[in-house]
Amino acid sequence: MNDYYENPGLVLPENFPHGEVKWKSPSNIALVKYWGKYGPQLPKNASLSMCLSESFTETSIHYKLSKGEPQRDFFFEGKANDAFAKRIWKFIDSLDSIYPYLGQLDLQIFTQNSFPHSAGIASSASAMGALALCLVDMERSFFSSPKKDEDFVHKASYVARLGSGSASRSVYGGYAIWGASKSVQENTDNKFAVPFSGKIAPAFENLSDAILMVDNGQKEVSSSLGHSLMEGHPYADDRLAQADRNMNDLSKAMVSGDKESFIKVVEAEALSLHALMMASDPWFILMKPETLKILQLVKKYRAQTGHFLCFTLDAGPNVHLLYGKENELEVIKFIEKDLKPLCHHHQIIYDTMGSGPEKLK
Ligand code: PMV
Repeated sequence: MNDYYENPGLVLPENFPHGEVKWKSPSNIALVKYWGKYGPQLPKNASLSMCLSESFTETSIHYKLSKGEPQRDFFFEGKANDAFAKRIWKFIDSLDSIYPYLGQLDLQIFTQNSFPHSAGIASSASAMGALALCLVDMERSFFSSPKKDEDFVHKASYVARLGSGSASRSVYGGYAIWGASKSVQENTDNKFAVPFSGKIAPAFENLSDAILMVDNGQKEVSSSLGHSLMEGHPYADDRLAQADRNMNDLSKAMVSGDKESFIKVVEAEALSLHALMMASDPWFILMKPETLKILQLVKKYRAQTGHFLCFTLDAGPNVHLLYGKENELEVIKFIEKDLKPLCHHHQIIYDTMGSGPEKLK
């Protein structure tokens, strides 16, 4: 059930013209982590993320009214890719009650990422974000709805969420919140994300994110398996309470400019995510020895210099380092000298906070 966006009666007229739509959508990195879900991809706790600028997916959909059995082609980075195609078409089919007319169309989807696959960057977030934006844009050009930009982006976030929970946050620039939490006024209904509404303090307006690639192998734990580990997890209740406290503390710190609280929450969230995985049944240790060395070196560097620098982790071994403009040169020097040697093939992606998706010509 996709409730309020369901529209099973929608059909396209016989003189329907062919066309093309193209969107670019960023990846995002969660500062308060979404971990655990229920129902149709709804989050057990609220999460808060920062949108990236250099890590994005570009997707275009070419469509025309089908003359018989609908034709479907999917190309990833210029080539057919069966594994990704299967996931995308399964997702498109699952939207039947929202977009029944997709079954009337021949569809060709072309998609590419700006970053290497398995770089520890959430590619499903940017990919599902870009795809959802294309689908809602097609709807707008076919039926002149959603009319208001705010409704457009809410629906894109809703559709993206059905593909990948974290993708709900990828349709916004800056910081986004997904999920109801007692302590944040955004208090969304869980079905789509919204932009962070507070006035962000200058210290957090333009953060950089250096992504240290400790390992670029396949993901050891799929997202679905990861979320399912929270079912009956011994620390589940405490985790939900912790996430709520962290949403409260982080959103306050982001407005007041309190760097110390920001660092405390962001690092606690990263380590809690990994601690939850270690305490799951079955358990997983996703950090590598180099990940641990990097975290220790970051702690030491911060204690010695007082510079604003903190880490976060996704469900994998790669490290995202967040820092501001004020000590940028020194921080980059530290990363290049002390942390780069610990990275796989010395790979680092220097990214920054981004301004959100873009419709492309
Ligand atoms: O969107 P999913 O199902 O891939 O889950 C993402 C989970 C984390 O990346 C670990 C946390 C988050 O909030 O993005």
